[in-house]
This record gives sequence, structure tokens and C-alpha cells, in this order.
Amino acid sequence: MKSDFNIVVLPGDGIGVEVIDATLALLEPLQKRHGFRLEYDRRPGGAHLYKETGNAFPDSSMKACEDGDAILFGAMGWPEIRYPDGTEIAPQLDMRVHLDLYAGVRPIRAIPGLPLPLASARAKDIDLVIVRESTEGWFHARNRGRRGVNAAGDEAVYDTCEISRKACERLFDFSFKLAESRKRRNADKGKVTCIDKSNVFLGMAFMNQIFYERAKAHPDIVADQCYIDAYCLNLIRKPWEFDVCPMENQFGDITSDLGAGLICGMGYAPSGDIGDDHAVFQPSHGSAPDIAGQGIANPVATFLSAGMMLQWLGERHRREELLQAAQAIQDAVDLVFSQGLVRPTDIGGNDGTGAITRTVIGALR
Ligand SMILES: NC(=O)c1ccc[n+]([C@@H]2O[C@H](COP(=O)([O-])OP(=O)(O)OC[C@H]3O[C@@H](n4cnc5c(N)ncnc54)[C@H](O)[C@@H]3O)[C@@H](O)[C@H]2O)c1
Repeated sequence: MKSDFNIVVLPGDGIGVEVIDATLALLEPLQKRHGFRLEYDRRPGGAHLYKETGNAFPDSSMKACEDGDAILFGAMGWPEIRYPDGTEIAPQLDMRVHLDLYAGVRPIRAIPGLPLPLASARAKDIDLVIVRESTEGWFHARNRGRRGVNAAGDEAVYDTCEISRKACERLFDFSFKLAESRKRRNADKGKVTCIDKSNVFLGMAFMNQIFYERAKAHPDIVADQCYIDAYCLNLIRKPWEFDVCPMENQFGDITSDLGAGLICGMGYAPSGDIGDDHAVFQPSHGSAPDIAGQGIANPVATFLSAGMMLQWLGERHRREELLQAAQAIQDAVDLVFSQGLVRPTDIGGNDGTGAITRTVIGALR
């Protein structure tokens, strides 16, 4: 069968390779069952490539990403492999800017049956989406930090945060549209909460002002605001009250790990970095050097990210069978945990990557 979509596959470093291979195994039976065909273009990139060649991400890999229909990404980076300035190799950050992937979509959803860390019975209702602005904010300072001297004469480094009108407008428009589609599926949803620090920073006050400007075009969606510090508090106290939460890049980076912690860890937190023309789908986690090579990486976050990729392709190309395949992944994941068919090591069990993959494949309907 002729392939329908060209998927650029970037396994990267550490467990990135392990969870990507598991995900490609899951996608095989789905293609047969739902009648579509993906072609994979596996490309190099990452910290170990940098160590070997001095180049973390060849131009040919970036070109493939520009040409592909979607990008499936594992993880890149390794703490001991750094650039001379002390920062880490992170081609995923370059890609977000290069491909203009402005919306970092990080669903935080409690999978039924998981032993959640919050004691409240309502923890099972956790179902929110962090939308991380992914092209500027404090990450604008990356490769632009300025060394200098402060007013007291001390050596100091200045990392500047950029907040532009365009980035805010498209971030909020994306978030309101996402809230509308979530409300269509679940009438209890329909709220966008702008997470900021507008009580202190001019850029954040600007962002907050644009949020309420854009909210006017979406009267059916509740527009709310929360300071980032209170948001961290409320993510622990009552995360089930949040729906769609757009925020600045660095805030989104940090709170998506906090959100993952609420749903049992990084192994359950998928993501999509989405722009108007391109999108990268990857687990929210990194290369996990502490467990790499042991066969125990949890591939569920990458399975769910692949589901997000199929949904994005299905909506973009009006292909119902891809939407069905995306739903099938989530249903299979929910089934295996709600029935206690697997117990990954990150929740105290003994099931490794292979056992989890086989069980989820066996649960596909
Ligand atoms: N998008 C990316 O590629 C990305 C994201 C974050 C970190 N990184 C890089 O990854 C490296 C490690 O970073 P880190 O340790 O801060 O974060 P990490 O997400 O790799 O790991 C944090 C913790 O979560 C656990 N964990 C992560 N994914 C897991 C999975 N699938 N199954 C079970 N446990 C899992 C790890 O074992 C570790 O204890 C660094 O080099 C960092 O720069 C890359």
C-alpha cells in the first residue's frame, strides 16, 4: 500500500530510542486495523551525536523535518555532554523556533486505575492542558545571554525575556479554540486560565491584557487568570478545576513536570509542539539517564503523543480513520490500567518497556 504520511522519526538519546521503538511497534497493528500507512524517515540528532561529530542536529535532519508531514521525537540531551558555555545540547528547542511551533500542548490527564499521588478522590478527575508558548519568553535568552557587571560592580549575567504581541495572540487563539473543542466533547469543560506574573513584570501585564482582548471573540468560554505561584499551589490543591492553561515558555516547562507528577510521573505525560505548518510529538520527559538501557522506560507518554500526532494529522487532512486510531490508543492505555493489566516500574511494579508495549497492543480494539 502506498504510504499516506511521511513521519520524521527522531529517537535522540537515552530512553528516547527505547520509547520510540516501542511506539513504532504499537503503530504497526493500528495502521493495518484502521487502513492507513505511515512511512518513517529516521534521522540522527542529540547529545551523543554531538559528542561523536561536533554537530547535535545535522542540516539534513532539519530539512527532513521541514519536509515531513509530522515529527515523532523521543528525547535529546545528556547532562554530561555540554557546549563550551556550560549549557546542554537541546535541538528540540531549536526546532520549536525554526519550525515556529508556538503551542506546546501538554495534556495532564489522570489515566483511570493509576495510583495517583493526591489523596483526594477528585484526583481521578484531573484533566487539564498546559499550553506552553514555545518560541520566546525566557527561552528567548537562549544563546543570547549577556555577561556584564551589575550596579554594585559584581559579575552578572542577563537573560532577557521576550513577550511579543503576535506570540500572545496566537497562543491565546489556539488555547480558546482548544477549549471550545474540549467543551464540545465534555460540557463540564470550557475554561481558559491565563497563567502569568502580571503583578510584577511588564511583559506579563502586556500578555494578560492581550489575553482578555482575545477572550472577547470566545464568549462561550470562561476566561480566567491565575498568578504562576498560586497556580503551583492550586495544581496540588485542586487541579481538577483547571481546563486549558496557556502560559509563558519557562513557566510551561516547569509546570508541565509538576503536572506530570500529579498523574504518576513523566511516563504518562504526552505532548505536541504545534505550529501552523508543522508539529512535533514527543513525551514530555527527557532522556532519563538514570534508567536508560535497563528496559524499564515507560512508553505510555510516547504512545499518547503518537495518538496526538494521529489526531492532528486526521483533523488536518480530514481522515476519520486516523482520528479513530488516535482514540484507539487512548482507549487501550485506559483499558490496561483500569483493569490492572500492567504495572510499570515507575509505580512500583515489574513491567518493563516490552511488557507494557505488548499489553497495550493486545488491548487495541
Ligand atoms: N524534550 C526533551 O528532549 C527533553 C526534555 C527534558 C529533559 N531533557 C534532557 O534529558 C536529560 C535528563 O533530564 P532530567 O533527568 O531532568 O529529566 P527526565 O524527564 O529525563 O527524567 C526525570 C525523571 O523522570 C524519570 N522518567 C522520565 N521519563 C520516564 C519514563 N518514560 N519512564 C519512567 N521514568 C521516567 C527519570 O527516570 C527521572 O527520574 C537532560 O539531558 C535534559 O536536558 C530533554
